[in-house]
This record gives sequence, structure tokens and C-alpha cells, in this order.
Amino acid sequence: MKIGIFDSGIGGMSVLHEAYHLLPPDLEYIFYADTEHVPYGLKTPQQIKEYVTEITRFLIEKGVDAIVVACNTATSVAIEEIREKYTLPILGMEPAVKPAVEGTENRRVMVIATPVTIRESKLQHLLQRVDGDHRVDLLPMPQLVTFAEREEFEGPQVEDYLRSQFSEYDLSRYCALVLGCTHFNYFKPSYRRYFGDQVMLIDGNAGTIRHLAEVMHLEISDGVDTEISFKDTQQMVEQCHTQYYMSGKKVSEEKMLKHFMRLHNRLEAVRGI
Ligand code: DGL
Repeated sequence: MKIGIFDSGIGGMSVLHEAYHLLPPDLEYIFYADTEHVPYGLKTPQQIKEYVTEITRFLIEKGVDAIVVACNTATSVAIEEIREKYTLPILGMEPAVKPAVEGTENRRVMVIATPVTIRESKLQHLLQRVDGDHRVDLLPMPQLVTFAEREEFEGPQVEDYLRSQFSEYDLSRYCALVLGCTHFNYFKPSYRRYFGDQVMLIDGNAGTIRHLAEVMHLEISDGVDTEISFKDTQQMVEQCHTQYYMSGKKVSEEKMLKHFMRLHNRLEAVRGI
């Protein structure tokens, strides 16, 4: 079975990485990063719809059996449109606000996402449904997408940006930080430094892969003990067959494959944080 996973850039690799851990190793993946158009979070809904329709068509031509839109921004703007056009299963992502609110009593929840995700009605409707006590704060962090694309996950510029964005909030009041953009997974150690050890860092990756398994009738590991165990990340990446595309072009140069390997290493290192 072939699964297509796409994002505006490298954020969606965090979803691919989770799939490696949770799904049977004999699946085939096509990972598509739309690096010519990243960041989506600063584009218009019409532009995003055009990119997403084109990528969906591309992946279907490559013979995928299901598509994961590993991008909260693309999901919020364009998922209905592509679901109407195509009949194969298309799964999207949205900020995991529900588990954050449900798992906590009266402390605050912060959602960080792109400006588009924050503005779109999909998130607003979700909040109307689950945030009756108005405990959720929304904070756009578009610059993190740019840092991630540069593979700059730590360092003075990242820290300055995070500090300035968080400075208006009393972070001791928060019990959960929802990562509402797949690019934000790479920065988990920094969030911990600001919010402390007790705060829950919640992303939608495992939930999305679980949903995919359900829809496609795939076996899924249901906990750390049953996860597929690989000797190391290198072995995992070698075994989980993946073709990479960047805005329609197949990636085969050694330099780029090494870049993807480094990203998998980073994702592995921050996975349990
Ligand atoms: N990774 C994407 C998301 O989950 C979008 C990042 C961007 O291109 O702005 O929202």
C-alpha cells in the first residue's frame, strides 16, 4: 500500500516519522514538500487551494491509496475542496485542542500555529465546540516555519524570537501547549525551557496516524511496548521505503537525502520531549 504525505515543507516529516514508528514497515510512502511555495501560513487561501489541488493530483498520478495532508494550514483552507474532487481517503490535521482542554481543569492552554490556521473558520468552530470556558489562547508563530526550513532549530535567533513572542504571557498559567503546525515539532526542547517540565506538549501526529490506520485497516502499535523496534534511526529510514519529492521534482541527490536523514535524527531526538 502506498501512502502520500504532503506539507508545504519539512514540517510534514514529523508525521511521516510517526508513521514509521506506528505502522507496519512494509508500507510505501511518498513524501511531498512544496518547498517552492513554503510558507503557506503567509499565503492567501486561494493560493493555498491551488497548491494543494496540484499536489493531490500529482500524488494520485503516482498511485497513492490514501493522502495525509500533514499541514494544519492546508487542511484548514483546502481539505473540503480536495475531498469533493477526489474519492480516495484524504486525512487532514487540525490543532489538537480537544485533548488539551479535556485533559486539564482550569489552567490555560496555548495554541501556536500559522496566521492562516488561526484566522480560518475551522479552528474558530473547533474552539466554539470545545472551549466553552475560554481557556485557550492563540498565538501565530510564522517565523518558526522559516527557521525550520533553514534547519535552524536552536540558537540565538530562535531564542530571541520565542522570547519576544511569549513575553506578553504569564507562562506559569499554562498547562498545555498545542503545536498547531507540523513545522513546530522540531523546537520541542525550547518550549520546555520556557514552559517547564509539567506542561503538556501536544501535537496531532500520533492521532493522525491512528486515524489513517483505522481508515486503511492497517495494524497499528498501541503503545511504546508494541512499537516497531529498529536498531537506530538510520535503520528505520532505510527500512521504511520512502520517495521524496520537492514541488514535483524527485529528490535523489545525496546532499538532499542527507538533509532528510538529519531531520529524521532531529525528530527522533525530540520525540519523547
Ligand atoms: N506545516 C504547516 C502547518 O502545519 C504550514 C507551515 C507553513 O508553510 O506556513 O501548518
